[in-house]
Amino acid sequence: MNYNKKSVQDIDVNGKKVLLRCDFNVPLDKETGEITDNKRIIAALPTIKYLLENNAAVIACSHLGRPKGEFIPSLSMAPVAAALSELLGVPVIAAKDVIGEDAKAKAAALQPGQIMLLENVRYHKEETKNDPEFAKELASMAEIYVSDAFGTVHRAHATTEGVSHYLPAVCGFLVEKELKVLGGALDEPKRPFVAILGGSKVSDKLGVISNLLEKADSLLIGGGMAYTFIKAQGGTIGKSLCEDDKLDYALEMIEKAKQNGVKLLLPTDTVAGAEFSPDAEPVVVETMAIPDELMGMDIGPKTREVYADEVKKAATVVWNGPMGVFEFDNYANGTIAVAKALAESDAFSIIGGGDSAAAAKKFGLADQISHISTGGGASLEFLEGKELPGVACLLDK
Ligand code: 3PG
Repeated sequence: MNYNKKSVQDIDVNGKKVLLRCDFNVPLDKETGEITDNKRIIAALPTIKYLLENNAAVIACSHLGRPKGEFIPSLSMAPVAAALSELLGVPVIAAKDVIGEDAKAKAAALQPGQIMLLENVRYHKEETKNDPEFAKELASMAEIYVSDAFGTVHRAHATTEGVSHYLPAVCGFLVEKELKVLGGALDEPKRPFVAILGGSKVSDKLGVISNLLEKADSLLIGGGMAYTFIKAQGGTIGKSLCEDDKLDYALEMIEKAKQNGVKLLLPTDTVAGAEFSPDAEPVVVETMAIPDELMGMDIGPKTREVYADEVKKAATVVWNGPMGVFEFDNYANGTIAVAKALAESDAFSIIGGGDSAAAAKKFGLADQISHISTGGGASLEFLEGKELPGVACLLDK
């Protein structure tokens, strides 16, 4: 995939109406509806400021949650418009709909240097269906399309791909940076390149494991997915997570690592408990011989040391997926150790969004990581080497 895409700086935005796709899919407090983390709004500010300073009229849009074509008031963009306005220090005009009368009238009246925000684009089922008529209606309000929604570039939706068929399409600074950092790590990493994968399921990471075995020097595996690899090699894993239909795949990947000369590391010790509970007494056991009554829920102390040493030697590290059930204090040490190793290393350290990003934040280490991707699913698909529709549709440089 070509990551070298035209950006807002490669197109004249002066006096133009710009449809800007952001990823304002922010977490909301279930009770109060308040935004609990505004990181994604902050991440969009450089592009918005650039557009406003360069005299564009900005029609911002995003999805929020998954309303599936229904008007769900609790998923309105209104709180996002208010938060954005506060961060920018200028009014953000909130439209009451997406392609209805209100949005169109406000878009038509919008002046250069002003910004408005459309309602939740997923209030229309046509959005996720990438309906061409819906995309055309959206595009009719603007003259340029800017994608700055890295978290959604893996979706072929109307506001992430469809509109590019009707407007010149370029990226914003956030997408540009993600493409540069993630693309650079995959294509021209400084070596040694160490990749760390965790999370519960092998099936979520099939493509990533295989792709990273072609790019990395070492691949360190932790989390629930490790037990499928252990069982595939004849270990006993007690009540640990296992995907029996992926045992052959695990063996194939072990073989692929050997053939490609990649050091594939699996946990040698495990912190296990009798049940999936924060109160389950943690016991350290050998990963190849987990007793029948226990389930593995974190990598053990020996493994933590080995993984941290590997990170110390690295020049580039990519991490995606926790090493254990980090939400439970008794089983968080593996994930903490990996997050710390990344934070302390001199390597260029990248966290591929999602749970690992949440973990780095939870343990107060996020500031010491070189790059934390704003995309969860998107960064995973990027690491798989898949073509991302929201990137492929942008103009090449
Ligand atoms: C995300 O939160 O990962 C993005 O906003 C994409 O959301 P989605 O998984 O609902 O498409």
